[in-house]
Amino acid sequence: MPEQDLRELYIDELKDLYNAENQLVKALPKMAKAATSDELRSGFEEHLEQTKGHVQRLEQIFEMLGESPKGKKCKGMEGLVEEGSEMIDEDFEGNVKDAGLIGAAQRVEHYEIAGYGTVKAFAQSLGENEHVELLEQTLQEEKDTDEKLTQLAEQINSQATAEAEESDEQDEAKQHNTKRVSTSSKSKRRVA
Ligand SMILES: [Fe+2]
Repeated sequence: MPEQDLRELYIDELKDLYNAENQLVKALPKMAKAATSDELRSGFEEHLEQTKGHVQRLEQIFEMLGESPKGKKCKGMEGLVEEGSEMIDEDFEGNVKDAGLIGAAQRVEHYEIAGYGTVKAFAQSLGENEHVELLEQTLQEEKDTDEKLTQLAEQINSQATAEAEESDEQDEAKQHNTKRVSTSSKSKRRVA
């Protein structure tokens, strides 16, 4: 492939990522608001700040390229954000809702990791070493976020399971009590 074509493709992919990151800047506060766990909420807030940094790094690259970052709509991120807001609107509560939000957020991270891996490889081929460094920093932050989400999911999923078991036990206890109450009221009636 002639280098000019790869450069055009590189710029196209960067524009796509720029749009994707900006969509995320809008979506993350909603995810944070929907989170039940304080840790998950602050995780989303922290990633929002990082994401603003990712936007800035891309702007730096566009400046070096003398190109505008605008002009593309990332349909992949649009779909992922849409699925995230569907999860926000679901009737799940507490830890179960959080588990769903983490699932949506990890899909986003994996999508970004793939995107940054691609542009980083293009930048390497094009000999854009400064770009490689900037893209690598963002790629690493996306990977770290994914890892943090995995750890949080382990905690939250086991809490969700423990809560489900607890509420099953409570239901059983309630049924048992109802039986006892009805028996005792019957016996009272008999006494009367
Ligand atoms: Fe990002």
